[in-house]
Amino acid sequence: PFFMPPGVAFTNGHFTAENIITKVTHSGDLAGIFHDQTAWRAIPSETPIYQVEMLSSAQGEGELYVGTTHLNPGRVGDEFYMTRGHFHQRREQGEVYFGLRGSGLLLLQNEQGEARLEEVSPGSVHIIPGLTAHRLINTGTEVLSALAVWPSIAGHDYAALAQGFALRVVLHDGKIQAKEVQNG
Ligand code: PA5
Ligand code: NI
Repeated sequence: PFFMPPGVAFTNGHFTAENIITKVTHSGDLAGIFHDQTAWRAIPSETPIYQVEMLSSAQGEGELYVGTTHLNPGRVGDEFYMTRGHFHQRREQGEVYFGLRGSGLLLLQNEQGEARLEEVSPGSVHIIPGLTAHRLINTGTEVLSALAVWPSIAGHDYAALAQGFALRVVLHDGKIQAKEVQNG
C-alpha cells in the first residue's frame, strides 16, 4: 500500500528501480588522462573503464541527482584505473559519495591545486565541499562502486582540469603510492 522507493543492492551497488540511465566510459574516451600514453594506446579503445548508473529524478534548482559509479579494477601502465574527474560547473556546489563495494581512493583538489586522498571502502562517507574537484581511483582487485548525490544544477566542468590533478596513484614496488606531478 505504501510507495516502493528505488533501492541499491549492498552486494554489488546496482540500483533496483525502473528507468535507470546508464553511461559507459571506455578507454578510448580517456585520451590524455593517464600519464603513460604508450600504455594507454596499447589498450583496446573499447575497453570499458567505468559505468555510471543514474536514477531518473527531477532537474532544476534545489533538485538532486543520484548515481552510482562502477569503476573496473585495472591499470594503464603503473597507474590505476580512475574516472576523468571534474570540478562542478557551478563551482560552489558540493556532493556526497558513499562507498558500496571494492576499495579505492577519492582524489580531491581545490582551486589552489592542493590535492588530498580519502580511502573509499564499503560504508565510507565522503563529503566533497564546494570548489573541489573529484576523481575516483580503483586501487583494488574488484569493481569499486560508490553512490553519489549532487545538485542537478551543479553540472560538470572537465576542461578546468585539462592539465590534470596534482597527484597520481600508481603501483610501485608492489605498493599503492601517490606521486606528486608537475602540472603544465
Ligand atoms: O557526479 C559525480 O561526481 C559522479 O557521478 C561522476 O560524474 C562519475 O563518477 C563519473 O566521473 P566523471 O564525471 O569525472 O567522468
Ligand atoms: Ni561531481
